[in-house]
Amino acid sequence: MAKAASKVPQPIRRSDEFLVFGSPLIGDDEKREILDCLETGWLGTGPKVARLEREFRAYKQAAHSVAVNSCTAALHLSMLAAGIGPGDEVITTALTFCATVNAIIHAGATPVLADVDPVTLNIDPGQVEARITERTKAILPVHFAGRPCEMNALVAIAKRRGLLLIEDCAHAIETTYRGKHAGTFGTFGCFSFYVTKNMTTGEGGMVLTSDEKLADRIKTLALHGMSKDAWRRFSDEGYKHYYVVDCGYKYNMMDIQAALGIHQLRRIEKNWERRRRVWSTYQEELGDLPLTLPPPPEEGTRHAYHLYTVLVDPGRSRITRDQFMTAMTAENIGVGVHYQSIPIHPYYQQRFGWRPEEYPNSLRIGQQTVSLPLSAKLADRDVSDVVGAARKILKG
Ligand SMILES: Cc1ncc(COP(=O)(O)O)c(C=O)c1O
Repeated sequence: MAKAASKVPQPIRRSDEFLVFGSPLIGDDEKREILDCLETGWLGTGPKVARLEREFRAYKQAAHSVAVNSCTAALHLSMLAAGIGPGDEVITTALTFCATVNAIIHAGATPVLADVDPVTLNIDPGQVEARITERTKAILPVHFAGRPCEMNALVAIAKRRGLLLIEDCAHAIETTYRGKHAGTFGTFGCFSFYVTKNMTTGEGGMVLTSDEKLADRIKTLALHGMSKDAWRRFSDEGYKHYYVVDCGYKYNMMDIQAALGIHQLRRIEKNWERRRRVWSTYQEELGDLPLTLPPPPEEGTRHAYHLYTVLVDPGRSRITRDQFMTAMTAENIGVGVHYQSIPIHPYYQQRFGWRPEEYPNSLRIGQQTVSLPLSAKLADRDVSDVVGAARKILKG
């Protein structure tokens, strides 16, 4: 009986050790800082948010920064502050998270999709140019997985055609392109501190801009349209009146969130180095499998190593992407999809008439892509389990 049981194939990891995709690395400093919020009672927007804004803009070498409660809010407010609204078109990528597109819709504008380069998975500048009309107001590129877009080409198009550039940097905190930080090329750079991101505040985001007036406007719009610094109204300097100067939103970040972010930011380079190593290990250990691995970072750029995405082409791998994902899950390894192409979603099809086959690169990548775990929290054993599971499924 015991002999028969031992022949049952065992997964690479036990089920009680399931490797959760994108699990964040939280240290004792974060815990202490959150405790400080609880003890002082300053939970909402306050001095810790102001500190995170200061330290984040210093890290990114940007002039102004406004913390908000998500990257979606950052994108939405950037477009509003820039005066983008009904009748305007904004060109973005067909391979992104739905939030990028939804933020354009929230602003009242019309999203227009451009297909991606099949190798870098970033928006194709030629496709952008082809989609410009007299209604186009802005280009909204996404630095996919942390790999910078072709910023020289995009900046040149924006300048030549008189368009705004708003960068979705949800994956790209540590990204640079020819020595310049992602998020500082256009009018706005929008960042995400969601749980799975390179630094987290649970939920959270940040806008960077070089324009002080636009930064002030975003600050106002993020807190009900109340005059700037209204968050200080209950401070120890005594009650202060505020004035509503616009109909804004409830998009402010809390000090509890910033308490996490301050210490996450301090370890950003250390965590980047850890992910770089994991990324290199995957490149080395998976190279002989029937998968398409990501290309190395382009010269003169710095990749943020936010996602490690491989393509499973059933013609080559003899297995579909979804079968591969199911098999990885059976090995107790969590995986993700970034992303199915935007035009496959029914809401967008109904509203904008988009047809997936008009964006062939995004469509194919959306069907073949799978993201392997890439978090600074991964131990060496976790990484070898991911490699072992992939090898077992594709070669075993
Ligand atoms: C490319 C991209 N843009 C925008 C967002 C939205 O970020 P948030 O969840 O902070 O609103 C995400 C989040 O996953 C993303 O990956």
